[in-house]
Amino acid sequence: MKILFLGDIVGSIGRKGVSMFLPKIREEYNIDLVIGNVENAAAGFGITEKVIKEIIDAGVDVLTGGNHIWDKKEGMHILESYERILRPANYPKGVPGKGYIILSYFGKKICIINLQGRVFMEAIDNPFIVVEEIVEKVKKDTNIILVDMHAEATSEKIAMGYFLDGKVSAVIGTHTHVQTADERILEGGTGYITDAGMCGAEDSILGVEKEAVLKKFLLQIPQRFEIPEKGLFKMEGVIIEIEEFTGKTKKIERLQRRGRV
Ligand SMILES: [Fe+2]
Ligand SMILES: [Fe+2]
Repeated sequence: MKILFLGDIVGSIGRKGVSMFLPKIREEYNIDLVIGNVENAAAGFGITEKVIKEIIDAGVDVLTGGNHIWDKKEGMHILESYERILRPANYPKGVPGKGYIILSYFGKKICIINLQGRVFMEAIDNPFIVVEEIVEKVKKDTNIILVDMHAEATSEKIAMGYFLDGKVSAVIGTHTHVQTADERILEGGTGYITDAGMCGAEDSILGVEKEAVLKKFLLQIPQRFEIPEKGLFKMEGVIIEIEEFTGKTKKIERLQRRGRV
């Protein structure tokens, strides 16, 4: 089974770029399932119904979230009404939406779990304890389990990789929007990368127009962050090949595509 995991899809350029590139990549690599992080899909902040539909139409099967998934009020209702969209599982009880899903796919069950780190981020529940409980629960249904570890600190993501080694198929990092070159298969057969990267404007600062971000660094006062609508686009992610019987990763490779949108 081949799964493509796309790093944070940022704004309309990210959505358009994914729509342009994804069908070809799906065919070229014979991809069975596409997962994409959508926390920045609506103009860089959160999600709207229109944006979610566009990403699903582009061919993304499961949509994961992160700290920005709450940025638009509409997002709360979307998390409740769309089956294949997740928010981090370690938010407190009472928060809308769900943190994991089990899908039936060609007679196989696949579980996708979304987590969020706590280092330099909101003080939510402990992702290590929460994921341990989820894995314990779902492992009677399937051993094909993918984890989106949405976190700032590389140490916390690497720690999660080792914590889940041999218990899940892959741990994929998101949130920093910068793809790391440390993809590997851990000893227990878990595929790992610290960050899958971003699908968004190349000529930008993490997908955001440079000028406002530079001003923020220079002046330290609030700025309005805009997302470039066209220009150079980069699409980053990883392709994970999983051995269906054992749930272990056989191969993990980085994907990068560039083009003009
Ligand atoms: Fe992001
Ligand atoms: Fe994030």
